[in-house]
Amino acid sequence: MTKHKLLLLLKRNDGKLLSGGYAAKELGVSRNAVWKAVCSLKEEGFWIDTVPNKGYLYRGHDDRVLSAEELYSLLHTKNLGGNIVVCPTVDSTSLEARRLAEAGAPNGMTVLADCQTDGRGRRDHSFYSPAGAGIYMSVIIRPKESISVLSTFPIRASLAVTRAIDSLCGLNVQIKWPNDLYWNGKKLCGILTNYSASAEDGMLEYVVIGIGINVGRAVYPETIPAVSLEEAAGEAPSRHALIALVLEELERSWEKGTLDLLCSEEIQSYEERMSCYGDFVTLEYLSGEREEGRVLGITPEGFLHLQAGEREKVLKNGEVSLRLD
Ligand code: BTN
Repeated sequence: MTKHKLLLLLKRNDGKLLSGGYAAKELGVSRNAVWKAVCSLKEEGFWIDTVPNKGYLYRGHDDRVLSAEELYSLLHTKNLGGNIVVCPTVDSTSLEARRLAEAGAPNGMTVLADCQTDGRGRRDHSFYSPAGAGIYMSVIIRPKESISVLSTFPIRASLAVTRAIDSLCGLNVQIKWPNDLYWNGKKLCGILTNYSASAEDGMLEYVVIGIGINVGRAVYPETIPAVSLEEAAGEAPSRHALIALVLEELERSWEKGTLDLLCSEEIQSYEERMSCYGDFVTLEYLSGEREEGRVLGITPEGFLHLQAGEREKVLKNGEVSLRLD
């Protein structure tokens, strides 16, 4: 707690010296406790100069070092990101979040990693997660709802991430239904939703929303054409600022309408960003069968609305995927 309060005090004093004695008095702790908190903040990537006999000078944070404290100081959420777990390396933040959720982790807990050794994508794909070059985050939520609400989650999550990217990087990112984000035909972000529910009544125990964003330049595997925010926007944004915005947008998105149905404003925003809106596309069913149709949009449940020949169809995420070729 001392560390957290001291960081806020240092940030408020940005550019000016903060005396150890003043900080100790303000925080109700000893000067030695202040000094220890400063050392701990420096280890988390904060640039703080110690000026002998004068005090401490805050000079910012090194974005290369993932820090829960930096995020707490940026966040304006009620629940999401209230507890942040930072792993330098982990198999997958979604696997870790599921393990934590099984062990009772609270609503809103967020797991971040600098690097994933077994990053997971949808349909058993892997998600390339090199160190320092991306955002790999998984958020645990515990809605008191049945699994029927899940179809709206990928839509809301992808909208939240596009809004965060738009506002920080000024990029008009497109969404490939249900929740892959693309820029100029190249993948920028993938989202994976996992959940656990009671077999008896179908009520959700927890949902883990895993988000992977390519932030810094990297050499991506050739299987999927990928792009990073650095390439798309000309410079890489702060990972911390983007994570904080994503959490805020996610929280805001669940405050709209009801959990099971998207409101008309959400449908409209989604369709405006939908890469194939109004286009003829090829769909591939789980069986491998293919069908062509024109995309009419999405339904309030988040399903794909399609005109296939004479018939209108509504297709669920999971039973079908959109092919880009
Ligand atoms: C996809 O492209 O199909 C979804 C990719 C989701 C990647 C994110 S990165 C954070 C979280 N941990 C994982 O293992 N996967 C998700």
